[in-house]
Amino acid sequence: MGYKVAVVGATGAVGREMLKTLAERDFPADEVVALASGRSAGLEVSYGEKRVLKVQNLETYDFTGTDIGLFSPGAQISAIHAPRAAAAGCVVIDNTSHFRMEPDVPLIVPEVNLHALPLFRKRRIIANPNCSTIQMVVALKPLHDIARIRRVVVATYQSVSGAGKEAMDELYQQTKASFVHEEVPPQQFTKPIAFNCIPHIDRFLEDGSTKEEWKMAVETRKILDPDIKVIATCVRVPVFIGHAEAVHVEFESPITEAQALAAWRRAPGVVVVDRREDGGYMTQIEAAGEDATYVSRLRRDPTVEHGLAFWCVADNLRKGAALNAVQIAEALVKQGLLAKQPA
Ligand SMILES: NC(=O)c1ccc[n+]([C@@H]2O[C@H](COP(=O)([O-])OP(=O)(O)OC[C@H]3O[C@@H](n4cnc5c(N)ncnc54)[C@H](OP(=O)(O)O)[C@@H]3O)[C@@H](O)[C@H]2O)c1
Repeated sequence: MGYKVAVVGATGAVGREMLKTLAERDFPADEVVALASGRSAGLEVSYGEKRVLKVQNLETYDFTGTDIGLFSPGAQISAIHAPRAAAAGCVVIDNTSHFRMEPDVPLIVPEVNLHALPLFRKRRIIANPNCSTIQMVVALKPLHDIARIRRVVVATYQSVSGAGKEAMDELYQQTKASFVHEEVPPQQFTKPIAFNCIPHIDRFLEDGSTKEEWKMAVETRKILDPDIKVIATCVRVPVFIGHAEAVHVEFESPITEAQALAAWRRAPGVVVVDRREDGGYMTQIEAAGEDATYVSRLRRDPTVEHGLAFWCVADNLRKGAALNAVQIAEALVKQGLLAKQPA
């Protein structure tokens, strides 16, 4: 006996990756249901190489009997339908920002804080963190265990797929148009994204930071340690898939480069690619389609007493969204936390 799984937002960038990831990892599902808006009802989406699912309308879907809901339909839609699914007995793993900072909803990165998972019983909702936060905390956790992190300064280089399928189309159309001297005006972004970098993701807050930058700070504290200070500058770059980050970390006590490398080599989900030579580091194109968080360019930061700087890269649609959500679902199964038990 396997599980009935609903993928909500199945026609989107994250939803499609969820279906692919479930199939690739052979998640023990007896039935997988693809849900999206009424606009997409009746369309077909792939579930693995061989299977095709007909998209159903989320609005009219009854979650009774559905064991797990992998949600990515946007925050406002999750706000309405995740509690409705949970009330019907479904455990929701939500990729949107809506529930992340609610105290009775666990915010989980399996390599970092699986111990917080049982809290989901309060509301039957588990939140998946922001894509930029996930890869950063996967890389930070092994270092924090050695020398306690005091402060993180991070600049991100985030791909357009982080803003969804229409944003990917906009980069494609603008790039293509530029070669024939045409113009495709920005719609998904505030300025042209082709051949440009935009230091603005999500809306502006009163203190001048953006909501994406705020999320990286508050989510890191919720997942890793409430005492860590984080300042982020989040930048959208003309890359289709994969986020990169330049991370500067200040520790409470000494930590050597050798200790950091050894800790990363032992850590789940981290792959070190760090040769101090031309090309001896990871880039977004190489990380796309991969599961790991790659760390490169490790070096001492001599401007603070105990500091390290590094570069990290991951596929935002996989580890930053779909893979992390499926790993949470796998943990629920493994720990026997679902009502239905596998045969
Ligand atoms: N992209 C990332 O790297 C990433 C990472 C972490 C979290 N997230 C979060 O995941 C969510 C989705 O992101 P995405 O990149 O997949 O966006 P997307 O490509 O624009 O896809 C949005 C999905 O939501 C569905 N949807 C929209 N309105 C709906 C409604 N009223 N009822 C049911 N379904 C509806 C869409 O269905 P239709 O096709 O029918 O409109 C589509 O399947 C966002 O909240 C985003 O912040 C994204």
